[in-house]
Amino acid sequence: MTPEEEEAIRREFEASRKQGHEQQPQNQGPEMFQTNDFSHIKHVIGVVSGKGGVGKSLVTGILATELMRAGNKVAILDADITGPSIPKMFGISEQRITAMDEHFLIPATTDYGIKVVSTNLVLEHETDPVIWRGPILMGVLKQFYEDVFWGDIDYLLVDMPPGTGDVALTVFQSLPIEGVVIVSSPQDLVQMVVGKAVNMAAMMNVPVIGLVENMSYYVCPDCGKHLEPFGPSRAQGTVDAFGIDLLGKLPIDPAIAELCDKGTIERDLPEHLLDNALQIIAEHDA
Ligand SMILES: Nc1ncnc2c1ncn2[C@@H]1O[C@H](COP(=O)(O)OP(=O)(O)OP(=O)(O)O)[C@@H](O)[C@H]1O
Ligand SMILES: [Mg+2]
Repeated sequence: MTPEEEEAIRREFEASRKQGHEQQPQNQGPEMFQTNDFSHIKHVIGVVSGKGGVGKSLVTGILATELMRAGNKVAILDADITGPSIPKMFGISEQRITAMDEHFLIPATTDYGIKVVSTNLVLEHETDPVIWRGPILMGVLKQFYEDVFWGDIDYLLVDMPPGTGDVALTVFQSLPIEGVVIVSSPQDLVQMVVGKAVNMAAMMNVPVIGLVENMSYYVCPDCGKHLEPFGPSRAQGTVDAFGIDLLGKLPIDPAIAELCDKGTIERDLPEHLLDNALQIIAEHDA
């Protein structure tokens, strides 16, 4: 990009930011974040759960990969600002988000073209802890949405932090979330935990796209038998109880954990793990 082109973009960007801010309704509830003139995002989908460690980031990675393989332009906003795991999963931990001038952020891009913003891509070392108070976290989230040069995106997936805290609340209130995918694991408390996520979405007026049950079963490598180490799947009963769709069940698979650790998810992920999810997401968009 020539300096003249950069300057032209910067001027247009400033103008669009100003216009966006002038258009903000005053004192009418939480601020809605606005993208810039160079970003056109068709669908924003949040990946949530009622509790931590159940596989939100993995499901975000799988959905991003499958949507990309189906021919969509995909991006991920890693909203787990203090515990980001997306860059490692896609093998882009060494990349850095660059700033084009004071405001404009150029996202990292995976080998297959998925655009990613994540705090780990702005820290000097990925092991640096993020010890920021609430207002700073909100500011980062706002910048990660508004100031990024996203370009044309069909699906922006937002990998949520665990729980229903400040950042999750801001994502729900300030981003144009079209729907949420809820991730659970099959344990006793699942209905209560999923209930928290379903009720939070309802309170925020955000539709639930459906539930993915992660770690649902394990296929014995010796005999091929489906085992259920956490007990029988509760997915069907749970979706029936809340009147939502079942998007799929994922096995516990050490090979998948290894892909995440090696950063080769988009290259080596087995095909069609969440086919039903893609179909329901497409129906949801229609
Ligand atoms: N189905 C699975 N098979 C094998 N490993 C899995 C599976 N699901 C998740 N894992 C592994 O478990 C760990 C936790 O998963 P993940 O990071 O996706 O959870 P999370 O809900 O995003 O956690 P947090 O709430 O901390 O953000 C990761 O190391 C991941 O690779
Ligand atoms: Mg996570």
